[in-house]
Amino acid sequence: MKFYLDTGNVEEIKRIVKLGLVDGVTTNPTLIAKEGRVFKDVIQEICAIVSGPVSAEVISLDVAGMLKEARDIATWAPNVVIKLPMTEAGLEATHQLYLEGIKTNVTLIFSVAQGLMAAKAGATYISPFVGRLDDIGVDGMKLVKELRQVLDQYGLKSEIIAASIRGIGHVEQAALAGAHIATIPGTLLPALWKHPLTDIGIERFLKDWEKVPKP
Ligand code: E4P
Repeated sequence: MKFYLDTGNVEEIKRIVKLGLVDGVTTNPTLIAKEGRVFKDVIQEICAIVSGPVSAEVISLDVAGMLKEARDIATWAPNVVIKLPMTEAGLEATHQLYLEGIKTNVTLIFSVAQGLMAAKAGATYISPFVGRLDDIGVDGMKLVKELRQVLDQYGLKSEIIAASIRGIGHVEQAALAGAHIATIPGTLLPALWKHPLTDIGIERFLKDWEKVPKP
């Protein structure tokens, strides 16, 4: 499973890229707003740091507006991916961009039907929101599993990005459910490599090392 960072924070990305753990990045208007910086500047900086796909979301709700934004964003960097909402207009724009060879990520997916529609429209990526489904008492990871089954069953090419990831359990379950990618908040990622027994183990080894005769 590939790891994307779900962030608009350039410093966070720079730090984790050094570990070889960043296969791509996803952003959304909320994450961009947190940075208090110009959208284009942030996306271009991220695209220069990360060689993998970087999702940048349109804010228009009509097809013409989405396409205008998408065609402009697509010129910002070779690895930029256009993120569009799962609406009728979003599907039409996704299909048009597919015909133009522009990569897309259809976001805000909450059902198998929505994922199937987006995949058939030609989305490069589809983003089911696991955490937000869990928040309303629906099993978000079940959706990831079912989407993978449907994509494989019909030979659909879209890749699943498990989004709205809230904890280590979500990342592990996304891998087990067959997500192609999990997009993980930069603040959560360190929790994946940390374990209290690892820290205790290091402490014990260092203590024992003190008993080793020094030359
Ligand atoms: C990523 O593509 C999504 O925009 C993001 O994972 C949403 O996460 P949230 O539900 O924590 O806002």
